[in-house]
Amino acid sequence: MIVAGVMSGTSADGINVALVRINGPARNQVRTPSPHHRIKLLGHAEFPYAPAVRSFILSTMNSARASVANLARLNVLLGELYADAVKKTEGRFRVKAQLVGSHGQTIYHQGEAAAFLGKKLATTWQTGEGAVIAARVGVPVVSDFRPADMAAGGKGAPLVPFLDFLLYRDSRVGHIVQNIGGIANLTAIPAGASQKQVIAFDTGPGNMVIDALTERLFGEPYDRDGQIAALGTVLDPVLAEVLREPFFRRKPPKTAGREEFGREFVDKFIERCGKVNGRDVVATATALTAGSIADAIRRFVLGRRGAYHDFIVSGGGTRNATLMAMLANQLRPLGLQIRSSDEFGLPAEAKEAVAFAVLAYETWHRQASNIPSATGAKRAAILGKISYV
Ligand SMILES: Nc1ncnc2c1ncn2[C@@H]1O[C@H](COP(=O)(O)OP(=O)(O)O)[C@@H](O)[C@H]1O
Ligand SMILES: [Mg+2]
Repeated sequence: MIVAGVMSGTSADGINVALVRINGPARNQVRTPSPHHRIKLLGHAEFPYAPAVRSFILSTMNSARASVANLARLNVLLGELYADAVKKTEGRFRVKAQLVGSHGQTIYHQGEAAAFLGKKLATTWQTGEGAVIAARVGVPVVSDFRPADMAAGGKGAPLVPFLDFLLYRDSRVGHIVQNIGGIANLTAIPAGASQKQVIAFDTGPGNMVIDALTERLFGEPYDRDGQIAALGTVLDPVLAEVLREPFFRRKPPKTAGREEFGREFVDKFIERCGKVNGRDVVATATALTAGSIADAIRRFVLGRRGAYHDFIVSGGGTRNATLMAMLANQLRPLGLQIRSSDEFGLPAEAKEAVAFAVLAYETWHRQASNIPSATGAKRAAILGKISYV
């Protein structure tokens, strides 16, 4: 089956589409997760959001003021944009998808349950209308993957570890797989692990804080190739203080988003840095991403079952050379060597889109695809909602 995976992450930089050929096992013989999937990437394309769309999305995320009418419009607009992106990718690679898996744009995520009007609720909201995508592309669409895991008691994230497990499980060596998008998330798969032994959680900010700072201090949407951070000096006391915050010390499972590392966090971060050169602020934020990843590995991954050697990294953060150099320095003493997901046949920026193709494939076959040890769910759940043509 050929499936198009569509991802638009918390960075709100744009839309990634992956066309994937998936051959699963005979369904009556094997229960998920099956090691027998064959996954082949047929093509991948990226479509940046137009600046006006991006700033509209950023203004709705976590906003106390977003209007209901605008949220309703955004849902349909994104459905149209996702459909355009899928059709363009199909044309470019001359491949027709039979199914689409669309993550949608997260506008709110609260993984931790809290009291609200007499009930304890955790909640999440991904927008981008599946019915519109199905109508435009002409094939069924699976969307809205996270609520089913939350309804089963999970945090609704992370979901990509399902793919990590299929791709990187190994009977002899352990792998740590790290995606650095807006948020950074880690999957650790010990040697010979079953799905239950997979450790996966959000380590903290990926590019989100860096992007916000370059935007505010330099008018740039991100720190291209890490050039700004490269010229700055890391403010070690600020870094140490931030790394002592409760999020970084909290045991997994845990998830993060703009709720934790959005506007408020950035305001406080700038204040903590004091009157210094903007480059130092960006350098310190870059060191925070690298440091929080290394800390998370020391605290929650090493010392548990199995040894690790490869650290396989994906996501837009891989293009930030300063970040990658800081990370390499932090990981070397832990015996970890950074390898790009490209080396394993998946372009670093395509992985999450591939993951949502695979998750859609599972749902289409009525198979569960959350990993309860990663999300904290009480049980396995079939994820998503299906829009038929
Ligand atoms: N050339 C580059 N140099 C530095 N950072 C980059 C570069 N290209 C992309 N990025 C970073 O990657 C981010 C997008 O990463 P992505 O994996 O798409 O995240 P998300 O899943 O949150 O959308 C951008 O916001 C930017 O911070
Ligand atoms: Mg993105």
